Order: sequence, then C-alpha cells, then structure tokens
Amino acid sequence: MHSRTVLSIGCIGCGNMGGAILAGFAERASHTLYGYDLDRERMRPLIAKGVRAVADMISLVRGATMVIIALKPHLVEQVLREIKPHLKSETLLLSVAAGVSLDSLKQAVDGACPVVRVMPNTPALVGAGMYALCLDDPALKMEQKKTVMELFGSIGTAVELPDEKFNAFTAVFGAGPAYVFYMMQSLTQAAVTLGFTKTEAARLVNVLFAGSAKLAQGTEADHAALQDMVCSPGGVTICGINYMDRRGMRGCIVDAVLAAYMRGLDLEKIV
Ligand SMILES: NC(=O)c1ccc[n+]([C@@H]2O[C@H](COP(=O)([O-])OP(=O)(O)OC[C@H]3O[C@@H](n4cnc5c(N)ncnc54)[C@H](OP(=O)(O)O)[C@@H]3O)[C@@H](O)[C@H]2O)c1
Repeated sequence: MHSRTVLSIGCIGCGNMGGAILAGFAERASHTLYGYDLDRERMRPLIAKGVRAVADMISLVRGATMVIIALKPHLVEQVLREIKPHLKSETLLLSVAAGVSLDSLKQAVDGACPVVRVMPNTPALVGAGMYALCLDDPALKMEQKKTVMELFGSIGTAVELPDEKFNAFTAVFGAGPAYVFYMMQSLTQAAVTLGFTKTEAARLVNVLFAGSAKLAQGTEADHAALQDMVCSPGGVTICGINYMDRRGMRGCIVDAVLAAYMRGLDLEKIV
C-alpha cells in the first residue's frame, strides 16, 4: 500500500467525525471512498462529494482495504465482533473512538488484521484537525504506517503517538477546541461589556485568534516572547496579564486539563 496508490477506504459511522474525515479525503485525494451509517441522511452530503453509500457494513468491510470505525465508543466492540470474520489480513482497521485503547481494539479483532488508533479533534470539520495516530501494533508494516501518516497529514496535522499518551493528547488537544472557544466567548463578553455589539465582538475575536495563531506558527519565538511583545513597560496589556496572574489563571488552565485527563483515565476503564 502506498499513498500515491488509490486506496479503497470505508468508514462505518459517518456522523461528525467519520463524515469530516471522508469529506476531507474526498476533497484532497482520489481514493475510492465508501460510507455506512444507520442514519441515511448522514450520507447525503457525502454522496454529493463522491462517497459511495453502502447498504450494510459487511459489504463495506469486504470492499475496503482500509476500514475506519467512527462510532460512539460503547458501540465499537460489538461492531468489531460483527465485522471480524470479514476482515482480511491485508485490511487496515482504524478507530477514532475516544477512550478505546489499542489493546481493546486488538483484542476485539483478535489478530485478524493490523489496527491503528486515531484521535482527532473538531477542527477536522473544516480540514484543520489534528490527528494523533498510534502505530504501535507490531502487525503494521512500515509502508502501512507511512501511508496512514501521509493520508491523515493530507487532511490536517498528523502526529504519531504511543497509546499511553492518548489520554494526555485527548485532555489537551482533543478537548482543546472547547477551551479555546471558552476563551473566545469570554473575550467576546468583555468586548460587549466595553460597548461592542455581540456580532461585531465575535467576528473580531475570531480574527484575533486566527491572527495570533498565524503569528505563533510563523515564528521561532515561543509563546512567552510573543506575549512580551504586546506588554510594553508601564502599558495597558501588562496590567491585564498581572490581573490574570493574581487570579491564578495559568494554574487554573493547567488544573482544568488535568481534570479532563483524570476523567479520561476513568472512562478508559469503563469503555
Ligand atoms: N466529535 C468529536 O469532537 C470527536 C473528537 C474525537 C473523537 N471522536 C470520536 O469519534 C467517534 C464518533 O463521534 P461523532 O461525534 O462523529 O459521533 P456521531 O456524530 O454520533 O456519529 C456516529 C454515527 O454513527 C451512526 N451509527 C450508530 N451505530 C451505527 C452502526 N452500527 N453502524 C453504522 N452507523 C452507526 C450514528 O447514527 P445514529 O445517530 O442514528 O445512532 C451516527 O450517525 C466517537 O467514538 C468519538 O469518541 C469524536
């Protein structure tokens, strides 16, 4: 399997995440794409992008060389049990289900084919997602690892991570968009307090975040140096930063992520 080869990719569950991934592949590459979802309406926008709707998941598994499971975590084990007899050793199985470890996936397919655990985040919906990929299954060939990294790299940012780092990745970057939107909402609220309309404030806050991210991505300077650039001695910004420091904002953000991390560990025991 090679990235320049046309792949045959099937996705079981074409909701938010499965739909975003298939839509990304449809826009950026010429692979043959299949989708299966219990909710037929979910398939409509994907069919318009060239994804073929499959009537049942067994046909999808038989036809695809790469099968992506994008179902709610509690459904994964049951579905894997159903498709297992139809998996071929050359099939590559990927799961984006949060909290379902590589070991659970491997156990469920019982060596029928290699498995890859993937953790995306919601900017995937606009082709700007992050994908943590666990390529620890010894059954994976080098070429398959390369193909998967390139494939997800073509629709966002792909990072290879060992399974034991997935909870940390989820707590920071999987949950991350919610933290960012929380900060965006708070700044919008502050702008409204100072007399901007909510629409105007929200639009400008979007520009602020996009611009700041672009600035950070385009420089070697770290975040602290970029913050210092705005904090002139005796100026306005340093007073705002001092207030946040006095209130322990940084510690609060670190603790929020740790709380999410602990919850992730608990959920992993349940799934
Ligand atoms: N959304 C995120 O931000 C995010 C981030 C990282 C990881 N994930 C992971 O991605 C996975 C999918 O999440 P999601 O937000 O995309 O869920 P979703 O929008 O609910 O999509 C799942 C889809 O699968 C369908 N479905 C249920 N059982 C099925 C079956 N047996 N065969 C085929 N289709 C079936 C559902 O239909 P019904 O609605 O009719 O049941 C639904 O349309 C989850 O495991 C989640 O942990 C999500």
